[in-house]
Parts: sequence; C-alpha cells; structure tokens
Amino acid sequence: MRRRYTAGRLLERDLAADPFDEFRTWLHDAVTSGMTEPNAMVLSTVGADGRPSSRTVLLKGFDDDAFVFFTNLTSRKAAQISQNPHVSLCFPWITMERQVLVCGLATPVPAEVSRAYWVTRPRDSQVSAWASRQSSVIGTRDELECAAAEVARRYPDEVPLPDFWGGYRVEPETIEFWQGGPARLHDRLRYRRESAAWVVERLAP
Ligand SMILES: Cc1cc2nc3c(=O)[nH]c(=O)nc-3n(C[C@H](O)[C@H](O)[C@H](O)COP(=O)(O)O)c2cc1C
Repeated sequence: MRRRYTAGRLLERDLAADPFDEFRTWLHDAVTSGMTEPNAMVLSTVGADGRPSSRTVLLKGFDDDAFVFFTNLTSRKAAQISQNPHVSLCFPWITMERQVLVCGLATPVPAEVSRAYWVTRPRDSQVSAWASRQSSVIGTRDELECAAAEVARRYPDEVPLPDFWGGYRVEPETIEFWQGGPARLHDRLRYRRESAAWVVERLAP
C-alpha cells in the first residue's frame, strides 16, 4: 500500500490531480497485494424499464479518459447500455479496505480496438465467445458444449472476431476513492468533472 498515507488516512493533498493517475496507483496496490482478480469490477446498468442489473466484468484497460471492458454485444448489459448509456463501476477491494466507484457513460469501442484485444485471447476463450449467445435462455450444458465443438471445427486455425463481440469505454463523470479508516470514520474522496477540470470533494462516510 502507498506509504504516504498518514495512519491509513486519505487526505486531499495525497491525491493525484488526475483521477486516472490515482486509479493507476490503487490498481497497482491491488495487483501487488496478491488478491484474486484485482481487475474485476461490478458493472451496473439500467435499461429502459428503469430496472438495474449488475454483474462482474474484467477491466481490460484504461487511458486518460475511460475504463474499458469487453463483452457480448447482444447480452443483457449491452441491450441496457444501448437503451441508457449511464453506468456505474465498482472495484470492491475488500481485503484492502478500499473501494473505487465510477459513474459515467458507456460507448462501444471501435472494432479495431476490439480486434486488437481479441487476438490476445486464448483460443478456447475465442471459441466459447462464438458458442455463447450470452444472456439468452438455453437448454442443456450439452447444447453449449456441442456449439463450442462445432465452432472449433469451423475455425481450425484462426478464430475471427465475431461481429457480436466487442468492448465498451466508460468515460467517468465521477470517480470516488474510498479508504476504510478507524472507528468507521472512512475517507471518501470524489473527483467530479467540471468542464475540463476535475474537482475533488470529500463525502461523509
Ligand atoms: C470474475 C468474473 C469476471 C467476468 N468477466 C467478464 C467479462 O470481462 N466480460 C463479460 O462479458 N462477462 C464477464 N463475466 C461474466 C458476467 O459476470 C456475466 O455473467 C455475463 O457478462 C452476462 O451478463 P449480462 O447477462 O448481465 O449481460 C465475469 C464474471 C466473473 C465472476
């Protein structure tokens, strides 16, 4: 963990000016702590019916503007994002008494970006992506395995990027860094985008 925090307290002066720089440090802390899947995040979406749904996805990249994940573009989450691009992300780093919350807008990434990531995936994962009509009701486990075997036969060499698979960028409007503290006097510092700048505000725990 970052040494410069005083007795576990997270102070405004400790924060980087840019929340993505702060996030990079926290993700690095999570990775080096040895926790399982430090890049797992809970993505929440709300469809046109106003009903929320949440699920875990893996953060596969971030830059100065956005957090990126990949998924099936016909899934429930993708349908909800097309109806309402407002989403939230939660990194629940419980073992470190930390949490990062992102609220922002999700947009599909260009196909070249999805392809660049797709080619790095193991063949089995590529085959499974083709075989799974993610989020739809299916019959038996056998059905799924037969579909995967059929895809593997169809593409004995390179498995192409399906047109129903790709990434989303989540451009944050707010990013909150939560650090657990003694006596439940936790620290919550939230960056909020105001025009081109980021404003930092402290929230009551
Ligand atoms: C640790 C973990 C990582 C996951 N990563 C992804 C991912 O990166 N992309 C994805 O589409 N689903 C991922 N899943 C599966 C999703 O949680 C979810 O079951 C799936 O995307 C279907 O969600 P939906 O029906 O709400 O669209 C992951 C699940 C777990 C437990």
